[in-house]
Amino acid sequence: MRRKIVAGNWKMNTTVAEGVALAKELVAAMSQVPSDVNLVVAPPFVHLTSVGEAIKGSKIALSAQNCADQPKGAFTGEVAANMLAGIGCQYVILGHSERRQYYGETSATLVAKMALALENGLQPIYCVGEMKDERLDNKHFDVVKAQIEEVLFGLTPEQMGHVVIAYEPVWAIGTGLTATSEQAEEIHAFIRKLIADKFGKQIAEDCTILYGGSCKPSNAKELFACPDIDGGLIGGASLKAADFIAIAQSYTISDDALDGVSGGSKIIMPARD
Ligand code: PGA
Repeated sequence: MRRKIVAGNWKMNTTVAEGVALAKELVAAMSQVPSDVNLVVAPPFVHLTSVGEAIKGSKIALSAQNCADQPKGAFTGEVAANMLAGIGCQYVILGHSERRQYYGETSATLVAKMALALENGLQPIYCVGEMKDERLDNKHFDVVKAQIEEVLFGLTPEQMGHVVIAYEPVWAIGTGLTATSEQAEEIHAFIRKLIADKFGKQIAEDCTILYGGSCKPSNAKELFACPDIDGGLIGGASLKAADFIAIAQSYTISDDALDGVSGGSKIIMPARD
């Protein structure tokens, strides 16, 4: 079944102590989160055990931000999928644009990571999204299509049923620019159609597709109201418990509650430098 998911990608932020404090704040605020919304936190590797302890017994799920493309062995500095599963991770973010851009992750690497994640019972949150120039050159559909085809189309339908997709336009990540709800919905619907054509209508209908890129309390409601946007992968705003919780409430929050809050979704396009 398609799920509502709000996932916090903490990236390389917080010390372990700060991360545990943030997790505890989230646990304390869980009564304010609608019961059908699934919260996920993805702290840095070294925090996973302590944050896992802090969220134990709550409805918050634990995610890693990455895993190795090898099962085990002489790969200094890497962390294997089975190690993550062994300490209670339920999800792993794969293919984040920062990994693709700064650490050279290719589709081939991601195919290997995807297989290992799934073999070990982790649910991959697979990120796709175009760079600014690709959007300006009107290549965003082609880019996203290739990212989906190259990494997901080798999966079995059963495996695909465990994958969450996150559309994150690179020009919107950490920039304060947000795709308009129309821009985001257009790509989300396109992704769902790609999945339907390959894996069948039911798997596509059930697939959870998140939006990421400067998603915050002021624009989450409009984004989450779109028929093909099932939630968010949140970077900066996930580091403040109040903002993250407010985003998780954006499926149901009333218009009145948002009065006076200005939205980021009015920004339409990135500009060329
Ligand atoms: P942002 O990051 O919310 O800070 O733009 C999103 C992400 O990179 O997942």
